[in-house]
Amino acid sequence: MIRKIQHIGIAVRSLREAVPFYRDVLGLSLLGTEEVPEQKIRAALFRVGESAIELIESTAADGPVGKFLDRNGEGIHHLCFQVDDAAAALSDAKGKGVRLIDESPREGAHGTRIGFLHPKSTFGVLTEFAQEGDGEH
Ligand code: CO
Repeated sequence: MIRKIQHIGIAVRSLREAVPFYRDVLGLSLLGTEEVPEQKIRAALFRVGESAIELIESTAADGPVGKFLDRNGEGIHHLCFQVDDAAAALSDAKGKGVRLIDESPREGAHGTRIGFLHPKSTFGVLTEFAQEGDGEH
């Protein structure tokens, strides 16, 4: 079951350049920055009420976000829904005919378990399911 929009992921060329806008201009609080080597990204998370903004910088040109930036430039990259059980949410979507990027959940940033639905099955929006880890913010 979907609980809320957990975060919106925004691809940026440089966290160092983008963080000051969200922190100093918009005045959002920076929850933390974390590198996720498996995804070749570094992510900075800002609280926005019950949701968050996740700025994502690529750490390798051949990574998924590096390729996204090459194709599309900076901008909204994905939408993440918080679910109780990421494995169940993925298999439920698959059972309803949705193409998956992740057949089973993997380790995400900030202690979450995550999995992605393919944008070809979601009207162009890369869609993430995230299950909160223990002691999550
Ligand atoms: Co995300």
